[in-house]
Amino acid sequence: TPRVFSGIKPSGDLHLGNYLGAIRRFVPLQDTHETIYCVVDMHAITVWQDPEDLKRWTYEIAAAYIAAGVDPKKSIIFNQSQVVEHAELSWVLNCVARMGWMARMTQFKDKAGENSEQVSLGLFAYPSLMAADILLYKATAVPVGEDQRQHLELTRDIAKKFNHDFAKQIAAAGFEDGFFPITETLATGPAMRVKSLKDGSKKMSKSESSDLATIYMMDDADLIAKKIKRATSDAEPLPSEAAGLESRPEAENLVGIYAALANQSVDQVLAEFGGKGWGIFKPALADLSVSVLAPIAEEMKRLVSDRGEMDRILRDGADRARAIAQPIMADVRSIVGFVR
Ligand code: TYM
Repeated sequence: TPRVFSGIKPSGDLHLGNYLGAIRRFVPLQDTHETIYCVVDMHAITVWQDPEDLKRWTYEIAAAYIAAGVDPKKSIIFNQSQVVEHAELSWVLNCVARMGWMARMTQFKDKAGENSEQVSLGLFAYPSLMAADILLYKATAVPVGEDQRQHLELTRDIAKKFNHDFAKQIAAAGFEDGFFPITETLATGPAMRVKSLKDGSKKMSKSESSDLATIYMMDDADLIAKKIKRATSDAEPLPSEAAGLESRPEAENLVGIYAALANQSVDQVLAEFGGKGWGIFKPALADLSVSVLAPIAEEMKRLVSDRGEMDRILRDGADRARAIAQPIMADVRSIVGFVR
């Protein structure tokens, strides 16, 4: 069976973008793939994290996976730092990846801003740790939101260069189609890039400035309704087909969110709401959001209150992850020429 890997960084409260772009899509893949879902705590510390917050968010993300329908018996759920091979492979890949490739990463440029001399070395190397996450399990498909596309292209470039640089050793070890797979990005459907509710040109993110711009998975029903009611929209009624959303980024965002939450296409949503105004659409969207998110939030609260049980789940996941990772890492060491 093909193998899926994905991860979320414990660096803030989970929001609707994380849910629609990633978590919700993890669930059906369990039926068709071997699925590995990680809480990438080592990525989180590429920028300063308060250690207590890091722990709390680590549990919260693992709980969100489970509350949304990821089954810890079917899927592997664990936090990255418990499987040290992630760090070990990322070092090898740091020596495969080129400075120029990393310097072109738009997320690095956005995060470093004007101040690239002052950010951590880890932030620069971030995408090669991400490649290590995926390649350590030879994962063939990665479900993510739109913003991770460039990182996954880089993962493919790193895999190709490793396969090329060590082609002789890889063939001698009996691998016929190269060593690392060329991983596919799974990022299609509505809401692959959920926007800020206050600015249709920005993505919804864990570090947004305006309180009303982001719907958090743990927001209560009233707050969700208030945020949607106050979301920036335009003065036009909704169009009756998807083409009518072009150059209406705020409208496109809200309709996309509705479609994803309702498991419908954008055209299906517009068949129902085309010609209607925001006074009708926004309350419907608020109700739908609450009906999907509230039960998940409730289950998350229950799960995080039992840290003993969460620790057990993460430890069991880490053991199963390690069992896949260790033989692959052993092959890497021998291909590279490390003596044991
Ligand atoms: P992170 O923690 O920033 O985001 C987690 C997931 O949520 C998606 N996402 C969004 N999707 C739609 N709209 C949005 N506004 C939005 N914001 C976030 C992200 O695309 C992602 O799928 N580098 C990754 C974590 C990572 C990873 C990996 C992912 C580390 N190793 C290996 C896949 C495979 C990150 O920071 O995601």
